[in-house]
Amino acid sequence: MDNLKKLISEMSLEEKLGQMTMVISSWLTAEASELTGILTDDAVDRIDCDKVGSALGSITADSAVRIQQEHLRRDRLKIPLLLMRDVIHGFRTIYPIPLAMGGSFNPDIMERCCAMAAAEGSAAGLHGTFAPMVDCVRDARWGRVMESCGGEDPYLNAVMGRAQVRGFQGKGLSDPNSLITCVKHFAAYGAAEAGRDYNTTELSEYAMREYFLPAYQACIEAGSPAVMSSFNCLNGVPTICSKWLMQQVLRQEWGFDGVVISDWGGVEQIAVHGAAENLKKCAELAIKNQGDLELCSLSYWENAAALLADGDITTEQLDRSVYRILKLKEAAGLFKKPFHGASTEKEDALLLCPEHRSLARQAAEESAVLLKNNGVLPLSQECRDILLIGPFADTHEILGLWACDGRDEESVTVAQGVRNRLPGASVRIIKGCGYRFDDLDASGIDEAVEAAGTAECVILCVGEPKDYSGEGRSRADIRLPGMQEELVRRVCAVNQKAAVLLFHGRPLVLTGIAQSASAILSLWYPGTEGGNAAARLLFGDANPSGKLAMSFPQAVGQCPIYYNHLQTGRPAPAIAELQHVPFVSNYIDCGNLPLYSFGYGLSYTQFEYCDLQLSSSEMSRSETLFVDITVKNAGTRAGKEVVQLYLRDHVGSTLRPVQQLIAFKKVYLEVASTTTVRFFIQEKQLRMWRGNDRFSAEAGLFSVSTGYADHLMLTKQFCLVDDNAE
Ligand code: GLC
Repeated sequence: MDNLKKLISEMSLEEKLGQMTMVISSWLTAEASELTGILTDDAVDRIDCDKVGSALGSITADSAVRIQQEHLRRDRLKIPLLLMRDVIHGFRTIYPIPLAMGGSFNPDIMERCCAMAAAEGSAAGLHGTFAPMVDCVRDARWGRVMESCGGEDPYLNAVMGRAQVRGFQGKGLSDPNSLITCVKHFAAYGAAEAGRDYNTTELSEYAMREYFLPAYQACIEAGSPAVMSSFNCLNGVPTICSKWLMQQVLRQEWGFDGVVISDWGGVEQIAVHGAAENLKKCAELAIKNQGDLELCSLSYWENAAALLADGDITTEQLDRSVYRILKLKEAAGLFKKPFHGASTEKEDALLLCPEHRSLARQAAEESAVLLKNNGVLPLSQECRDILLIGPFADTHEILGLWACDGRDEESVTVAQGVRNRLPGASVRIIKGCGYRFDDLDASGIDEAVEAAGTAECVILCVGEPKDYSGEGRSRADIRLPGMQEELVRRVCAVNQKAAVLLFHGRPLVLTGIAQSASAILSLWYPGTEGGNAAARLLFGDANPSGKLAMSFPQAVGQCPIYYNHLQTGRPAPAIAELQHVPFVSNYIDCGNLPLYSFGYGLSYTQFEYCDLQLSSSEMSRSETLFVDITVKNAGTRAGKEVVQLYLRDHVGSTLRPVQQLIAFKKVYLEVASTTTVRFFIQEKQLRMWRGNDRFSAEAGLFSVSTGYADHLMLTKQFCLVDDNAE
């Protein structure tokens, strides 16, 4: 019998249930901890906290050591606590939100940023994080699109999710500088109907297999030892008690034997969904579907004894979950080193250190997306009179809602960044208007317009407040809130060289300002170094190279909108972007295309796609096809370009998307230089879900293209032939 099984054999039922319950850290220590969910007031009195096995919440090295020491002193079997926290895009040094980081199309910087976050978080005493979030998202009304590291694309979610697992887990789970990852939210939480958080998801197995499941599987294969179940019901069943999802797919098909953690209160919400008449039944359904660890609700603690007595669950089911949890603690090295990486010295040295700030700034520069530029950007570094207009001109509120231990006041504002960059220049700030729905006072716009008319350099800084995206922050109208659109339109009318800086957590509907503004640079929520990154981008020290990981709709009525859609039986012709065409799939009052597409982003230089060559016009299942794409920097500035490879399978027994990203590479090119990027295509990239638990490729015609979604170029075709074909 292995040592953990022996330990389990010595545990009481209460001790087992304590291991299967995660509470907030403030229950274990007098220190308050912010809540990322709802808790009933008396909950802390209903559980014996000495027996609890894990906790989440804000922590420091000092408090983590004290909590663990006190726990081990009291715990009969000396089983160490597991301490976790939402380290979503940085611990104290915050880098851009995951949707922006996905748009960097730079897995290396994603990995390095996660390693930085793990170094900071583990120094502060954490053992794990509830990340990566790899939900596929198509509806910008949903507030949590900001957390998705790959947006609407399953491949980008998988690549960036794997990079996060590598970054956070480093040399291994017991590495004192690492954090355990927990891939979430399993599954398809991002497909909430109407973009309304926690809402129903209805998806065919085809959609799940092709779009919504692959990234979770990729993270598990990359070594993530935990999975968080999601709040939504999927096809009429709450995910946490979905036998198909939790047992057939996760445990049997994927062979996952790690820990499933319910999302906050998710077990008890089974009854709220209406799938159980009481909390006892909730606990039974979740335990039977192998939900190992109940987060911030007590249905296991309070009902498992009765379930055992009634024969509704078995001791083996409980022991299986406890074993997984103890295995995770053992893998993290907690039995030998219960304090993991906690160190006040490391904490003092690492948190917000110059190297970390520098990396966060680089990430913000790599994630920024230049949406429009009529030659206005970059601004001259000789500017001496700079006018910043808008509610984001000098605010620290640029971290995003899931910054957790990140502190707004430690961020660099745009005004501070501009002053840092051009210390000799005059930097004036006019707010002009507010940025919340009810900020309808436009009286400040006149002053901004008057000043803009004569200012040498005008930068409009607008966006949505950080609490308008994130959990529970869905919006039905995704334009710039308040009077910001009017502010932009009127300022741009008097100064055609005004540039717009955007701060936001979701794709916004920018149709109202896209015509007026000569230049639009999206910074998303750029994190702690946002102001410095903004200044370096605005004045040309850095050349924007981010692309969109999620489409920006022309109108909210287009949501959900995504590039890898099906053709339909009546596809709209190109002219339908300009006028209504009857009897095809289009709108009377709007085109089908987004305002800005997935994979789109400009640069201060121009890249020419000179050539796309295939090593053959056909490939067998056992062969590899080479695709060579030649790109030239034909502009006047060095820069980075994301060379994207899209595939189309023209005919399939189940329908294939009009295009799907299958590879990309970010390259740096000096002026006038050229490079050829070689991609490889193998049969496994051509596979499709064919039902009956099968993924396989079908012989036939394929094409590959480069460019970006909705703007493909240099297309070449090839055939997949069966080996025995004549
Ligand atoms: C929240 C979120 C989840 C987070 C968890 C712990 O409700 O849904 O993403 O990791 O609770 O804070």
